[in-house]
Amino acid sequence: MTDASKTVDRPREPARLAVGITGASGVVYGLRTLDALRELGVESHLVLSKSAALTLAQETGLSVAEVNAKADVVHRPADVGASIASGSFRTLGMIVAPCSVRTMSEIATGVTSSLLTRAADVTLKERRTLVLMIRETPLHLGHLRTMTKLAEMGAVIAPPLPAFYAKPASIAEMVDQSVGRALDLFDLSWRPVKRWGEDLETITGKGEG
Ligand SMILES: Cc1cc2nc3c(=O)[nH]c(=O)nc-3n(C[C@H](O)[C@H](O)[C@H](O)COP(=O)(O)O)c2cc1C
Repeated sequence: MTDASKTVDRPREPARLAVGITGASGVVYGLRTLDALRELGVESHLVLSKSAALTLAQETGLSVAEVNAKADVVHRPADVGASIASGSFRTLGMIVAPCSVRTMSEIATGVTSSLLTRAADVTLKERRTLVLMIRETPLHLGHLRTMTKLAEMGAVIAPPLPAFYAKPASIAEMVDQSVGRALDLFDLSWRPVKRWGEDLETITGKGEG
């Protein structure tokens, strides 16, 4: 017989986030997400799609090994037996930064062909936060319908659009604002984010009338 009055002491689980980086333009969003998680003490589980190696080469001078070094745990995209492929492995959720139309479409169907999309599907089924930083423009009706479907399934559609009101002085500041605002969705507050009414003076009462 078990004694219900006795509680089992379990070690505290670390805060963890799955991070997907796809072959959409804007690989820097994924890189800064990994930097932010390291700063915040959140364990990052990285999965890079095969195409992300192309955008990485085009957009940065970094190697895949240098990107991997930014993460706490690195998973191969083909490894569908990895920890983040199972809902029993607890995480805060997943962010895909940047998210391509191809990956977005695959997540929306549930027919997942890689660890990246499987982990996103698991995040949805476990009702955890899935943030998709989708980057494409212009968008056709099929893209818009897919985004609607994903929003109905519980995903957060968060295209990385610059917040000009934060008066960024550089592309780096613009990127960090978008990354930080995406991390807000997991209740993670990252230092560089400029907040209205805190770091940024509100304009209330300054208008006419
Ligand atoms: C330099 C470069 C930029 C790209 N930019 C985008 C983009 O912004 N959005 C997008 O959906 N696909 C973009 N693509 C195409 C994707 O890489 C391609 O559709 C790929 O199959 C995506 O695969 P993945 O989702 O598995 O990473 C780009 C490709 C290259 C080489």
